[in-house]
Amino acid sequence: MLILAIESSCDDTAAAVLEPNDHLLSSVISSQNEIHARFGGIVPELASRRHIEMIRPVIDEALLQAGVQLADIDLIAATQGPGLVGSLLVGFTFAKALALVRGLPCVGVDHLAGHLLSCLLEPDKPEFPYTALIVSGGNTSLYAVKDPVTYTRLGRTRDDAAGEAFDKVAKLLDLGYPGGPVISQIAVDGDPAAIAFPRAWLGEDSLDFSFSGLKTSVVNHVNTKRRTNQTLDLADICASFQEAVVTVLVRKTLAAASQTGHTRIVLGGGVAANPRLRTLMQQHCAEKGLKLFTPSPVFCTDNAAMIAVAGYHQFLRGDRIDPDTDAYSRSPLN
Ligand code: KG4
Repeated sequence: MLILAIESSCDDTAAAVLEPNDHLLSSVISSQNEIHARFGGIVPELASRRHIEMIRPVIDEALLQAGVQLADIDLIAATQGPGLVGSLLVGFTFAKALALVRGLPCVGVDHLAGHLLSCLLEPDKPEFPYTALIVSGGNTSLYAVKDPVTYTRLGRTRDDAAGEAFDKVAKLLDLGYPGGPVISQIAVDGDPAAIAFPRAWLGEDSLDFSFSGLKTSVVNHVNTKRRTNQTLDLADICASFQEAVVTVLVRKTLAAASQTGHTRIVLGGGVAANPRLRTLMQQHCAEKGLKLFTPSPVFCTDNAAMIAVAGYHQFLRGDRIDPDTDAYSRSPLN
């Protein structure tokens, strides 16, 4: 069996070909970073136009790299939501049309389900159940993952997602988009304890997150420095901001694992590519005797390989969509 998966929820056009048991034959991602960088964030209209241009070549390239043809495909999986509806509609409609024309089954996949299962693409796969932290530009949530299709949300952000905070701070500091990679790079030379940015714990047992206060605190710090003509120590700001985000993510993930009793922790989403988060999470997991599973950076950010994995498991459960099924902007999982 061969699965063709399509992902277009935000600003990356992606396609992948997968065989069952998570054997990935190809994964192609066409990034739009260059288009949106000068705006300091994603411009939805530009994103959907670019998806329209790229969807066909990206699928062709995924088939080529896998060494297969469209006629060999048995199942089509596509991201149904959440995301920018204009972007989602390009990939989702293309998938439904392809399935209709070729008489193939089609599965609509929740983008978050893809992130929750992206670790299964790695050679060292977690067994179920596990506790997962999904942390990206649009989401910051904790889940108990019972099996490949059963997830319970344990907590989520009440305002900004962690990646959104990285992107907004980068915009404030004129560092371009996306903000996460550049901030984490600059932070390497900074002192994480230089500036006491706030951490929002939201109560003893809360597994929810909040990053808007932290973002405001960085804005105030930077504006005060600029107003009083003091030089900005970019490295210290980046390191202190990053530390404030990462310490909260790590502590709440460990608290979630202690509630679920799971011994396996899984990370997913673009911010999971953050080296400081990976290091600190690994240290704390090792201290508590927990095993940490992190996808390779290429499977942390948006990709279609994870959509193929999730789509295949949904197919086994019996999920199918018909041609008038719609995309959605808000996830039922969040
Ligand atoms: O998962 P993703 O590709 O798209 C969403 O679904 O949002 O995640 C993109 C987000 C952006 O906010 C980006 O700044 C962040 O992930 N990101 C990082 C790093 N790499 C990407 N954040 C912190 N550190 C990184 N190294």
